[in-house]
Amino acid sequence: MAIASKKCGNCNRSFTSDQDFLHGTSRWRVCSDSNLWFNCACGSTLILPKNKYDWYSPEIAMGPEAKAIFNQLSETKNLPHIPASILKLQTLIQDPSSEFDDMAKAIKTEPFIAAQILAMANHLKSSREQTNQSIKSIEHGILYIGKKALNDLVMAVPAQILKVNTAHFDLEKFWINCFLHAAIAEKISARYSAKFSPEEVYLAAFLSNLGKVVCGFYYPEMLDRICQLVSSPKTMMPWPKAEKKLGTPSHVVMGEVAAAIWGLPEFVMDGIRFHHHPAHQPKSDPATVKIYEVVGFSSLIKHWILLEPGHIDKMILKSYMNYFDLTEKALESLVSEMTVLKNAKSPLAS
Ligand SMILES: [Fe+2]
Ligand SMILES: [Zn+2]
Repeated sequence: MAIASKKCGNCNRSFTSDQDFLHGTSRWRVCSDSNLWFNCACGSTLILPKNKYDWYSPEIAMGPEAKAIFNQLSETKNLPHIPASILKLQTLIQDPSSEFDDMAKAIKTEPFIAAQILAMANHLKSSREQTNQSIKSIEHGILYIGKKALNDLVMAVPAQILKVNTAHFDLEKFWINCFLHAAIAEKISARYSAKFSPEEVYLAAFLSNLGKVVCGFYYPEMLDRICQLVSSPKTMMPWPKAEKKLGTPSHVVMGEVAAAIWGLPEFVMDGIRFHHHPAHQPKSDPATVKIYEVVGFSSLIKHWILLEPGHIDKMILKSYMNYFDLTEKALESLVSEMTVLKNAKSPLAS
């Protein structure tokens, strides 16, 4: 078994056996040039050259259900790897000596990434400030997002590259709704728990339903059947109930598989895994609010704003009302306050 030994340039930890590599490390991801990337326990990113590892599998970051699905899926086709350009960009962003100009230059050589970053910067700005003034240059965009947040936000790009061949699932509308979900989550988080960075919450909400697209990538017909069940006025029901009824793999598990393959941050994985869980405690305490609770509650508000009452699981909504100590009247006014976010500049419109 070929093990590439490695030393972390930041904390000097050395990796010599497969156990060293797998202990306390995170965010393993294979890049499109087949190099394997991971984060040392100190947070810095390390790269192993391709073909130097046969002990690694994305399964290490998956729960039992996701593992089982992953093993079935990998017999059919594989999700695309993260583009090398994105991981290279992250290296540049993480380098303390790199300047905004260097980053702007690197981003501009990748038109798709540049467009996505500009779209996110504009959406963040217009949902925060309710302004029509848009960010037109990449330089301004990355200055607005900030270096640390940019490092995380570029991880949303691989998901947006996925294409699905479906008749009833509208991919563009899906991502527009994800942007709305993200903007609501940012506001909810600021109100109920200031402990998360706004961009982390934004990204966790934005990617929480990523599994729907992954489901469409592997099983387009199944996704179409779920969509029909969820949206037809006769059968209208929350997404997870439709999945259960049809016996299809859940978008939560499909999302977990993709997050493990792409090495998405732990807080994104949490949002994916638990966004359909009820709130876990009867009363709110800002110190104990979890990121997935912000994501889950925001998702219900999103459906309310989009006038999709059938998508709202009443029992879960009740648990959040208890958790955040909201009367029906307070919840209604919260929803009407958030409705303005629907008008934030649609990142996909321009
Ligand atoms: Fe969901
Ligand atoms: Zn280290």
